[in-house]
Amino acid sequence: MGDTDHAKTGIVITGLVKNFGEFRAVDDLSFRAEGGRVFGLLGPNGAGKSTAIGCISGLTKPTSGMITVNDHDIVREPRAAKRRLGVVPQELAIYPDLPARDNLRYWGAAFGLRGEELGQRVDDVLETIGLVDRAGDLPRTFSGGMQRRLNFGCGIVHEPTVILLDEPTVGVDPQSRERLYELVTEQRDQGACILYTTHYMEEAERLCDEIAIMDHGRMIAHGSLAELRQTAGEHDHLTLTGHFPVEEVRPVIDAISEPHRLLEVLLAEPNQLVIAAHEASTRLPAIFRALEGAGARVSETTLRRPNLETLFIKLTGKELRA
Ligand SMILES: Nc1ncnc2c1ncn2[C@@H]1O[C@H](COP(=O)(O)OP(=O)(O)O)[C@@H](O)[C@H]1O
Ligand SMILES: [Mg+2]
Repeated sequence: MGDTDHAKTGIVITGLVKNFGEFRAVDDLSFRAEGGRVFGLLGPNGAGKSTAIGCISGLTKPTSGMITVNDHDIVREPRAAKRRLGVVPQELAIYPDLPARDNLRYWGAAFGLRGEELGQRVDDVLETIGLVDRAGDLPRTFSGGMQRRLNFGCGIVHEPTVILLDEPTVGVDPQSRERLYELVTEQRDQGACILYTTHYMEEAERLCDEIAIMDHGRMIAHGSLAELRQTAGEHDHLTLTGHFPVEEVRPVIDAISEPHRLLEVLLAEPNQLVIAAHEASTRLPAIFRALEGAGARVSETTLRRPNLETLFIKLTGKELRA
C-alpha cells in the first residue's frame, strides 16, 4: 500500500498496562493485528477497549508495555507510527457547524495533504462514505448514521494502512450500520489492518477475522471465531427465564446431570437460568420436572448453539450485555 519504508502493516502490542491512579484499566494486554484482516476487541462497557485504543493512537501514555504501529514504536517514534494510522473515535470527532467537505479537508490538511491531492482525496472519501450529495451541508443536520459515516471518512482521508475503529455503530440505524460494515470490509480487502472494538457479539461474529475478548482490562480469550466457538464447547446453551429459587436450583440440576455431567448450570439468578446441556432438546422434560420440583416457574425457554455470548458467560459467569 505504498508505505515507502516497507514496514509491515499492522499493530503489535506487548504487555500493555494502563493505570489511572490505583485503578488498572488495561492489564497485560498482548496481541498482533495484521494487514488485510479485521481484528476485533470485544468486551462489555468498561472492559478497557477505548483505553487500549487511546494507547495505540498515542493519545494516552501507557504505564508500561510496548506498542508498534507499522513497525514504529508509538512512544519513541510517534510521527512515523502515526503517519499511516487512522483513528475513528467512539466520541464523534467532527465539527457539527462545518460543512461535511470542510470536515474532511480539515483532517486531510492535518495529515499534510495540500492542494489538488487534498481535493481529490476529499472527493474520493465523500464517494466512499456515500455523502457526495450532502458535501456542502452541516453535520448537525445529519442523521446519527450519516455523522458516523463522516466520522469514519475523517479517519481515512490520509489513506491509513492501520485503522482503529472504536464502537463505530453505536446509535446507528440498521441501514447505516450495513454501510459501515461494507466500508470496513472494503478497507480490509484493500490491505488495511483494522482494529475494531465493540460490545456487540453479533458484530464481532460477523465482521472479525480474529477476536480478542476483554473483561476488566484483561484478555480472557483470543482466536478465530471457529476457535472461540470450540472453546465455548460442544454443548447447547439453554436459557430459561421465569422465577428460580437460586439455592435449590443447582442441586436438582446436578442430580439429573450425573453420572456423565451432561448438564452444567452456568448462571443462576432469581429470574434467569443458563444451563449448558449435551443434546439439550432431549433433556428438556427432565430439566422441567427437576425445576418444578425445586419450586421454579419457567416462563420462556431459548436453546442456542455455542456462540461468543455463551463463551463469555462460561468464562466470566455474567452476560456480555449487562
Ligand atoms: N481518564 C480516566 N481516568 C480514570 N479512569 C478511567 C479513565 N478512562 C477510563 N477509565 C476507566 O477505565 C475503565 C475502562 O474504560 P474504557 O477503556 O473506556 O472501557 P471500554 O471502552 O471498554 O468501555 C473504566 O472503568 C473507566 O471508568
Ligand atoms: Mg469504549
